[in-house]
Amino acid sequence: MRRALITGITGQDGAYLAKFLLDKGYEVFGTYRRLSTPNFWRSQYLGIFENLNLIPADLVDAGSIMEAIRISRPDEIYNLAAQSFVGTSFEQPIGTGDMTGLGVTRVLEAIRNFDPEIKFYQASTSELYGNSSNKQANEEVPFKPASPYAAAKLYAYWQTRIYREGYNIFACNGILFNHESPLRGLEFVTRKITNAVAKITLGLEKDIKLGNIEAKRDWGYAPDYIESMWMILQQRDPDDYVIATNESHSVKEFAEKAFDAAGLDWQEHVKTDKRFLRPLDVHFLQGDYDKANKKLGWAPKVKFGELIKLMVKEDLSRWDRWQSGERFSWDAFNYPCEDKILSRYHRMER
Ligand code: NAP
Ligand code: GDD
Repeated sequence: MRRALITGITGQDGAYLAKFLLDKGYEVFGTYRRLSTPNFWRSQYLGIFENLNLIPADLVDAGSIMEAIRISRPDEIYNLAAQSFVGTSFEQPIGTGDMTGLGVTRVLEAIRNFDPEIKFYQASTSELYGNSSNKQANEEVPFKPASPYAAAKLYAYWQTRIYREGYNIFACNGILFNHESPLRGLEFVTRKITNAVAKITLGLEKDIKLGNIEAKRDWGYAPDYIESMWMILQQRDPDDYVIATNESHSVKEFAEKAFDAAGLDWQEHVKTDKRFLRPLDVHFLQGDYDKANKKLGWAPKVKFGELIKLMVKEDLSRWDRWQSGERFSWDAFNYPCEDKILSRYHRMER
């Protein structure tokens, strides 16, 4: 039985990847951080929680990573753990550099020391491109990161290549464009919108405040993208691949379609608020997955319109069930109202 170690198993991609690998017959190990309150809701939601082997480890603690590898003795490591929210990376640039950047070197060093035969997947990102061009980005387009998060990921991207070329480790970058799902964190704009649509539909809220609604992203469906991670590690040679849908849409279009899916007019409910603007933003991202298509045989199945509908449907159903007294594992009921969260912006206002 093949063994996989997933860092970041409590996140969106970690949960879907764990399910995917379990279905393929893998023994799945996942690292989780010690938190004051456990957060396994995603794997509980997917019904796989009982099938996971959990190991406490933190990317800022090299010894804990080494221990996780010793315990799991994996054939493949999927490094999904990161401080992954671009907005937070402006508030916590040093912590982000440590976890999202240096953390990757800690994993690579552990592989080099423990067993260089272990295959390594690094969760690289379209944020690497930043505002480098307004064209579709493939593996040859130069990077120009525009946030502390992207700068940390750039370092991690190069370390992955350096360990591949320098130590002959099967280390690969999946350069994934934005991918969303009902398991997406509530701070990311897509789920923030679909959750608000559900609450507004049920009369629990009146409006939603957003930042830069002109920003454009190439949004795909997380379970489709998870499959590419596995495919990348099954190739004969290690390499780097762009994973995307090749379409780009604005946040405004996303909001319009999400409200429309619930029979509402977005203009009556969407407000803009400077609080959600970033010091520097990426205005346009659109990928080109041609290489992944030709070499891996990968293509996205769910596109923009369908993605929005399935996310709105799931959030509506959750709030509806919750209001009827049903209790289950999820995140939204427990999330603070954004007006209660004070940021750098509030200090500037005072
Ligand atoms: P996510 O939902 O935010 O999950 C991030 C995971 O990393 C969580 O399990 C989190 O654990 C863990 N983590 C954070 N800091 C850690 C630390 N210091 N030590 C160990 N674990 C830590 O992110 P995602 O959307 O699943 O994304 C997975 C990966 O792909 C991330 O590296 C992200 O940057 C990258 N990526 C995502 C996208 C996308 O559109 N989703 C696109 C390109 C690349 P806790 O639950 O304890 O916080
Ligand atoms: N989060 C958020 N909240 N974003 C908003 C809002 C808001 O209220 N209003 C507008 N936006 C804009 C952001 O400024 C950004 O331009 C765009 O919506 C998308 O923001 P996010 O959903 O936070 O995602 P991201 O593109 O910054 O980062 C995600 O995708 C990357 C891949 O490109 C994350 O998953 C990263 O981890 C990932 O690497």
